Amino acid sequence: PETGCLSIIVLGASGDLAKKKTFPALFNLYRQGFLQSNEVHIFGYARTKISDDDLRSRIRGYLSRGKENEGEVLEFLQLIKYVSGSYDSGEGFTLLDKAISEHEFSKNSTEGSSRRLFYFALPPSVYPSVCRMIKSYFDFKELPAYCITYVKYPQVTVLADLGGWTRIVVEKPFGKDLASSEQLSSQIGELFDEPQIYRIDHYLGKELVQNLLVLRFANRFFLPLWNRDNIDNIQIVFREDFGTEGRGGYFDEYGIIRDIIQNHLLQVLCLVAMEKPVSQKPEHIRDEKVKVLQSMLPIKDEEVVLGQYEGYKDDPTVPNNSNTPTFATMVLRIHNERWEGVPFIMKAGKALNSRKAEIRVQFKDVPGQKQGRNEFVIRLQPSEAMYMKLTVKKPGLEMSTVQSELDLSYGQRYQGVVIPEAYERLILDTIRGDQQHFVRRDELKAAWEIFTPLLHRIDNGEVKPIPYKPGSRGPAEADELLQHAGYVQTHGY
Ligand code: BG6
Repeated sequence: PETGCLSIIVLGASGDLAKKKTFPALFNLYRQGFLQSNEVHIFGYARTKISDDDLRSRIRGYLSRGKENEGEVLEFLQLIKYVSGSYDSGEGFTLLDKAISEHEFSKNSTEGSSRRLFYFALPPSVYPSVCRMIKSYFDFKELPAYCITYVKYPQVTVLADLGGWTRIVVEKPFGKDLASSEQLSSQIGELFDEPQIYRIDHYLGKELVQNLLVLRFANRFFLPLWNRDNIDNIQIVFREDFGTEGRGGYFDEYGIIRDIIQNHLLQVLCLVAMEKPVSQKPEHIRDEKVKVLQSMLPIKDEEVVLGQYEGYKDDPTVPNNSNTPTFATMVLRIHNERWEGVPFIMKAGKALNSRKAEIRVQFKDVPGQKQGRNEFVIRLQPSEAMYMKLTVKKPGLEMSTVQSELDLSYGQRYQGVVIPEAYERLILDTIRGDQQHFVRRDELKAAWEIFTPLLHRIDNGEVKPIPYKPGSRGPAEADELLQHAGYVQTHGY
């Protein structure tokens, strides 16, 4: 049931992620009526000693998309209470427990019917200790929706579906390689059941990522073509036109492969490549994603180009001899009937010439046709769009051909529709108990299995990044790799 008392606890409430993403997402859910003030309370928890009002004023500036009415902002802020405490001692959690219990009591919540959502806006190093605290203070096991709980009254045993739960939302980095990720997974897994754990990958909350399965499996245009017989290569691209900007210390420990490719781009790849799931059930969808990951061939060093932008090491928190890539292009290969021989080119970089995330599906040549290949592009951001590059007769008296586009730009076609932020959608899914757009433990493990050997070679300095100019396309070697993998430049758009 989706009614009853709901406590949302944002751990790490004074940090950047909470301020910039979590609280604004909660606010948007509130103003759209998904969080009701008569049942929800939001608790911020962090080490910093500040008051409720201090936290509220820190968040306030991030809540505006420009047109909110002040009243809604104030109402929302009143739902937030702040508790300060450490992440590994009982003191703070006792206070938090008290605050939550008071809230639940004030809402007449029956024991066992409270819903508690713990959002970890925290560094992963504290995940295990925070999980232990939550487990000992707050845990209700996740029960299937149909589950019937026995509530004992003095004489009678009453059957009731109380629907209470405790769920935790965690975010990458989940470890640094296979071993450390597995260690973290088992530490959390000993305390919580998989249905209680929501591993966020915010790319799975993006509108056009959520559209991928519909697009592929509900359109005859794509069904028969989506395979090695027709598709020559697929690119999944992430570019940012700014550098690590104050996050150098964090970034240097991880690098672009762990920050973007192993999670965001790989998740997109799974949805592009997977077979049709048996049903729309989250488990069936995630089963198919795991199969794609398990069918990946090892990454070859000669199909990897790494880069590091000039000036990256000027950040005082980055070591002078850093070998961390801020750019990577690599070819992934799926060894199955549908995709054998089709390169999936993953490309991600910081401090490049533009900000863009897109999927480019390039079809094979049409024999005898010189004008250029068909390409289907799904632009995840900015300005969501899908377009197909086609060859058409050039309009006019002459009989020649030209490449043109069939274009579905969301801004034009769906004017006035506000596309929700990824975090908004994913938090709502968590409240509803829908794990479809979250990463399952075996998926995470399979993802690390693919990248760990390469990451270890980079960490050992065996594969080195090539310097590139900030604001450029990245190292020229990456474009060469692209061509080598079979990509043919079509006319720009
Ligand atoms: C985060 C990465 O997961 O995603 C950042 O840690 C990156 O480095 C960000 O900037 C990009 O997200 P988006 O939604 O802006 O593409």
